[in-house]
Amino acid sequence: MGKTILETERLSLREITYDDADDLALILCDAETMQYYPRPLDRYEINSWIERIFERYKLNGHGLWAVILKAESRFIGDCGLMIQQVDEIDELEVGYQFNKQFWGHGYATEAARGCMDYAANTMGRNRIISMIRPENNPSRRVAERNGLKIEKLVHWRDYDHYVYVSEV
Ligand SMILES: CC(C)(COP(=O)(O)OP(=O)(O)OC[C@H]1O[C@@H](n2cnc3c(N)ncnc32)[C@H](O)[C@@H]1OP(=O)(O)O)[C@@H](O)C(=O)NCCC(=O)NCCS
Repeated sequence: MGKTILETERLSLREITYDDADDLALILCDAETMQYYPRPLDRYEINSWIERIFERYKLNGHGLWAVILKAESRFIGDCGLMIQQVDEIDELEVGYQFNKQFWGHGYATEAARGCMDYAANTMGRNRIISMIRPENNPSRRVAERNGLKIEKLVHWRDYDHYVYVSEV
């Protein structure tokens, strides 16, 4: 079982492990869920995706974490803090991807809020960004519900993205 990082009212965020591969595949290999990414992953790519997360844990002490719905002890998504280079500056990004069975309950908003609080209270970081494609309305609503505001539009990883920013 991965190390627990933080808890919110309904959710627990812990480190991802190889045992999460099947649950992650339901998210990362699904065409609808991945419509704002270059492409869905193939199932065989999941373990190397997990290895890249492990590298982030080792290097930075954080990365994307598993989101567990406490009431059902179920893996419902990933959410966490990643260092991203934007306009040649290392920024701290809150990112999230949820199993579509669990959309529309406020879980992504709650998990992202938990990560923002963790960044501020545990890491002492008050500038958090989210890189969001203009057409990704569900993700923009998550950011806006958590008080993030558009700072600028940038061309990043081949697509236009809004840089949403929160100064906690
Ligand atoms: C982005 C994503 C995580 C958002 O998931 P979501 O279910 O829409 O977001 P939430 O879990 O916060 O749910 C918000 C919705 O639940 C509703 N809701 C129900 N109960 C709620 C509660 N207690 N608190 C907040 N919202 C609640 C809200 O009204 C909201 O609906 P609305 O957006 O129509 O107003 C999801 O669409 C996803 O996984 N997308 C694919 C991956 C992706 O694009 N990631 C982001 C890349 S930048």
